[in-house]
Amino acid sequence: MWSALALTTLLPLAIAINVPQTYINTAIARTIELGGLTTQITTQYNIKPLDNSPGEYHLALAGENDFEPAWWEVSLGGKKLEGRLLDESPPTVAIQLGKTKKDEVITLSLTQVLAHTSTPLPAEIEQRDSQYLVWNTNSTYVDSWYPTDVERVKIRAPHPSILSYSSVPETYTRDNTITKSGGTLTLGPFHSLPPTLGTSQNKIAEQKPFSVHYETKDPVIGIRNLQRSAEVSHWGANLNIQDYIELVNEGPKLKGHFSRLAHQQSKFHASVPAQILTGFTLKLPPTAHSPYYYDYIGNVSTSHFRQGSTPATVQKNKKVRTSPRIVEGTLELKPRYPILGGWNYSFTVGYDIPLGDVLKTDNEKNRKVLAVPFLTGLKDVVVDNAELKVILPEGASDVQVYTPFAVDSIEHSIHKTYLDTTGRYAITLKKTQSTENHAQNVYVTYHYPLSAQLQKPLTIASLVGSLFLLGMGLRRVNYSIEKK
Ligand SMILES: *[C@@H]1O[C@H](CO)[C@@H](O)[C@H](O)[C@H]1NC(C)=O
Ligand SMILES: *[C@@H]1O[C@H](CO)[C@@H](O)[C@H](O)[C@H]1NC(C)=O
Ligand SMILES: *[C@@H]1O[C@H](CO)[C@@H](O)[C@H](O)[C@H]1NC(C)=O
Ligand SMILES: *[C@@H]1O[C@H](CO)[C@@H](O)[C@H](O)[C@H]1NC(C)=O
Repeated sequence: MWSALALTTLLPLAIAINVPQTYINTAIARTIELGGLTTQITTQYNIKPLDNSPGEYHLALAGENDFEPAWWEVSLGGKKLEGRLLDESPPTVAIQLGKTKKDEVITLSLTQVLAHTSTPLPAEIEQRDSQYLVWNTNSTYVDSWYPTDVERVKIRAPHPSILSYSSVPETYTRDNTITKSGGTLTLGPFHSLPPTLGTSQNKIAEQKPFSVHYETKDPVIGIRNLQRSAEVSHWGANLNIQDYIELVNEGPKLKGHFSRLAHQQSKFHASVPAQILTGFTLKLPPTAHSPYYYDYIGNVSTSHFRQGSTPATVQKNKKVRTSPRIVEGTLELKPRYPILGGWNYSFTVGYDIPLGDVLKTDNEKNRKVLAVPFLTGLKDVVVDNAELKVILPEGASDVQVYTPFAVDSIEHSIHKTYLDTTGRYAITLKKTQSTENHAQNVYVTYHYPLSAQLQKPLTIASLVGSLFLLGMGLRRVNYSIEKK
């Protein structure tokens, strides 16, 4: 145990990040769910303050030399906690726990999503072979700045067929190091584990790499680029959302030629090999309507749209027989051809949302508040480069953007199209490595004066007016050819 006195004498000596040893982890339980491109990790930390004012708890999000999470969230008793992300490596969050008492155990929970943690092995397979991936980590033990009494790590593969996995040294175990049950591996329990991170004054537990070679029966789908444009029309009371998507099958590459005959036969026997993508479903906002879907050849006929509903639309439209709750719309899309390992497919999909559902007016500040979904999430899919361009109506000014997570860049520009006079204000947000968890609203607020609301009608009116005048002028001209 560390006494407060020892700590204060230690502090001035410390170099780089020094985390005061004011907590211990009495127990850590981690579950790692292996998938295709993403890995979902949930970790419960039972932490115990060693004195009455222990200060912030330092939660490591990754180890040195390991994957950093694409998304993470900390919660205490089911309530999300705001942590302060320290400018340190490995990434660490400092968490203010409020009132704490010495020896009173607190349970923190951390959810993380890692991207691109598994790779196909073998890297090439034939059309009808099963697909296997290998998952790697450099941190077998849960990374922590504090010592841990007991720790257990569960790794869940999607199917029981696990071809192989690493071993764990017996340094911190008493009996079993790894237990396999179906598709689940349990590592540990580990006992009396020193911190894995810290200054050289502490005893440090040396991290070990770990890998699992497992089968997956879902296509491993990635999106290289997703360009979303969201265009606001006050005049048409509409928000148009359009996505250009470059999809890639990141599973093992197809060895040899694609056999359409074998594919048709497998379809007939309802046993299309796991790695071939033949279709997927996008979830749309409940009031989305008028969807369209086309690729470089033209319209793709194989799509099926089911409109969602909200209590309000159910009331308005008595014919829709759905229970009065929010139901998402769904758009089932079938690519023009099956997408095998290593193949890609680019397409555009779009739809409209009534503006009233996503735009509110803050009368006090005389501002519009617009909510735009950053992207449409797909399970276990990583979007390498996501871009959202929000195009506001002409005359919008004093624009501010609020994102629920950090993005890489926010750019303000002017976008000009047909019938525009001064051009429209546009904001472009860019972010790498997005997951389903990033399918959240981005808020854009702006000032939109009455004169701007009239700008478009006036432009149209003056245009129609000038056509009319021109018509009148033309009518006055005598076209009849003078008979001489
Ligand atoms: C694990 O460590 C090795 C050796 O230092 C490094 O090459 C590799 O990139 C690391 N893995 C990850 C996921 O960072
Ligand atoms: C594509 O489909 C939409 C809606 O079904 C239709 O309005 C449009 O004219 C079609 N375009 C082409 C090029 O076929
Ligand atoms: C898709 O495949 C084509 C042809 O193989 C290739 O030229 C293109 O770069 C690929 N695109 C992506 C996004 O991988
Ligand atoms: C147009 O010109 C012709 C020949 O100059 C004349 O006969 C006719 O009345 C004119 N029509 C009008 C509407 O002015």
